[in-house]
Amino acid sequence: MTMHENSTAAKPTPADRAAAAAADGPPALRVPFDATVLTESPISTERLVLRPLEASDAPDVFEYQRIPEVLRYLPWPERDRAQGYAHTATRAAGRVLAADGDFFVLAVTLLGTPSTGNGASDRVIGDMMVRVSSLAHAQLELGWVVHPDFQGRGYAREAGLAVRDFVFETLDPHRVQAFLDARNGSSAALCERLGMRREATILEEQYNDGEWQDTAVYGVLRREWAAARG
Ligand SMILES: CC(C)(COP(=O)(O)OP(=O)(O)OC[C@H]1O[C@@H](n2cnc3c(N)ncnc32)[C@H](O)[C@@H]1OP(=O)(O)O)[C@@H](O)C(=O)NCCC(=O)NCCS
Repeated sequence: MTMHENSTAAKPTPADRAAAAAADGPPALRVPFDATVLTESPISTERLVLRPLEASDAPDVFEYQRIPEVLRYLPWPERDRAQGYAHTATRAAGRVLAADGDFFVLAVTLLGTPSTGNGASDRVIGDMMVRVSSLAHAQLELGWVVHPDFQGRGYAREAGLAVRDFVFETLDPHRVQAFLDARNGSSAALCERLGMRREATILEEQYNDGEWQDTAVYGVLRREWAAARG
């Protein structure tokens, strides 16, 4: 059963929802937050360690960044190695959340699998982004990518659950959301696995790769996340 399924409970009325929302109180995102603290104290799961992306992760990141299948639903252009490495350096420099649009990126490293750039380190098999959609309204956005060789094994789910729980516990967002190309079935399935609900399909919201694309919006409220945890 997912976070949003409950066959026995009556559907909340608009008045119920308004009362629950009022009880949540005003938005209070806990910022500034500097993700560099996660370098020393990373997020660990059963199989993964999540720590801030570094410019030196560029060789591993390029291994998935250069694959057309990975770029299909990402607003990333095809990049050569030099452009890819520069892009990773830019993303690695995002660390502090203090204003709308601020972000940080966590490298998803797989324990016991050597990095392609430095065999002494664990390989970066993907990454997870956390971005401030709205400071005033305490809204955070998540984004993700996993190398295709490591997809279909639950790593994105494992990392996504850990990041979702971390941001709710640490930053106190009212809502966590994701925006995806409406055709991106794998990403939509991941959203569902993270307890997020499809809330909207925005028609022709982006123009990428020479075509208008629909955007799907997924979200989970803080109180829904808390209730699902018991
Ligand atoms: C979106 C993306 C991260 C999802 O990755 P994923 O590997 O499909 O996601 P999960 O980690 O949840 O894996 C789920 C699959 O692993 C399987 N699995 C295998 N072992 C598992 C385990 N131990 N635990 C959980 N799931 C497991 C599940 O059954 C599921 O397979 P299914 O879809 O056939 O049912 C990936 O498709 C991707 O990187 N896409 C390209 C970039 C992109 O589009 N990003 C999103 C932009 S919005």
